[in-house]
Amino acid sequence: MRQAVPACVRRRGTVRRRHLPIASTESRRLSSLPATPSPDAPPPPGGRAAGAPGAPPAYGVHGANFRFPHGFLWGASTSAHQVEGGNELNDWWDWEQAGRVPEKSGDAADHYRRYRDDFDLAQALEHNAHRFSIEWSRIEPEPGRWSDEAMAHYRDVLEALHERGMEPVVTLYHYTMPRWMAARGGWESPEMEGAFARYVDRVLGELGPLARWWITLNEPVVQVFKGWVIGQWPPGKTDWNAALKVLRNLVRAHARAYAIIHRHRPDARVSIAKHVLALSACDPKSWGDRMSVRARSWLFNHLFVNALHRGVLHLPGVFWERLPFGRTLDFLGLNYYTRDFVHNTGLDLPGWMGGTCSLDNRQYVGKLNDLGWEVYPEGLAQYLREFGRIRLPILITENGVPAREDDDRWVFLFMHLWQVARAIADGVDVVGYLHWSLLDNYEWADGYRARFGLVEVDFATQLRRIRPSAWKYAHIIRRNEL
Ligand code: FCB
Repeated sequence: MRQAVPACVRRRGTVRRRHLPIASTESRRLSSLPATPSPDAPPPPGGRAAGAPGAPPAYGVHGANFRFPHGFLWGASTSAHQVEGGNELNDWWDWEQAGRVPEKSGDAADHYRRYRDDFDLAQALEHNAHRFSIEWSRIEPEPGRWSDEAMAHYRDVLEALHERGMEPVVTLYHYTMPRWMAARGGWESPEMEGAFARYVDRVLGELGPLARWWITLNEPVVQVFKGWVIGQWPPGKTDWNAALKVLRNLVRAHARAYAIIHRHRPDARVSIAKHVLALSACDPKSWGDRMSVRARSWLFNHLFVNALHRGVLHLPGVFWERLPFGRTLDFLGLNYYTRDFVHNTGLDLPGWMGGTCSLDNRQYVGKLNDLGWEVYPEGLAQYLREFGRIRLPILITENGVPAREDDDRWVFLFMHLWQVARAIADGVDVVGYLHWSLLDNYEWADGYRARFGLVEVDFATQLRRIRPSAWKYAHIIRRNEL
């Protein structure tokens, strides 16, 4: 088993030392576990004390291993458009047909038909939780026309998870919307909030009893950025004013959905899946670059969560708005993948948000994954600690790596779980970890080349093959220990 992650990574002939200013500060604060793990060197003793006799074993360091909290949710995530196949009625399908991305989703992983077999694999891999999304365009193919077939399908999906002992975590909106809603202006339209509320009400009325964990929106800020700032995703705009309007509409849509979900299911646990991105200055000596890191971090990582938690929509120097609601999060779903380096490009809002710089000539940078994103595990502990301060349980709703080389996936998984262990040892209430993804899938503008799956999919034959990293992950889950 090749496991060790080198402290230095050799790229293009140069030796690059893995980081890292943030990690060194972090490791001083997160004292319970060392910052840099080795998959075959267990953490030193010194964690929390064991529980009372008869009680489930306490979490923390036990002898050679770190034990995760009792009832920890372990599993993987998917999203409808990326795995189901044949999602012909949404805006992303149209985007693909219009040739706006190099590859079309087509049959994807054919999961709409093969979900039972796929869940059998997840069960064999010891998963006790699973995140998936409901495709709105299947449930409501035309405005006000609800598909019984689609609703029955998702009911069956939920039952199939329960039969296999997996806790469902259900996403209501994962980037795609019905074509008819997109034609009416989508997230820019004043109709959107009401349309989304009706959809949520319908789904919860039918499926509410079958799931306790609900994610209203997947990565709302990423969607605004890709759809309205850089125009890479539908609707393909580059318009800051529209972007800010969409941001407000997303916040309101979540708050309304939160109330609806709780009306149907008072004990529901509701959140968004918030993408957090580690950020560093391209030039740490430049004041402008450092300010751009702060501005981007505020907009990208904090603004949305603050709005939902504190009821204030605030972008320093740009806008401040008290919302008629607050505390619409029962837990916090976090998606974490990588770090960007940021530089300032001007003194207006886009300038403060800045641009990203190439990793090529950087001195301190981790290994790059198949999509060229830096592998930077320390960022995960940093955000768990940072968001741990709002005192909500945290569920890691996505974390994964595009890696054709499966050893890279195992190292990534281990290194990130180590960071989760560090945060838990430091008192952060992390309640679960859902790896992205269960299956190789359609990776939006990156098509099928990015292989994120614990399970490999041959898209020509739809054959599945469990990757070795998935078995190693299963071993960790079985013992609930790292
Ligand atoms: C996240 C998305 C998910 C997938 C992963 C790789 O940002 O939520 O759909 O694309 O990235």
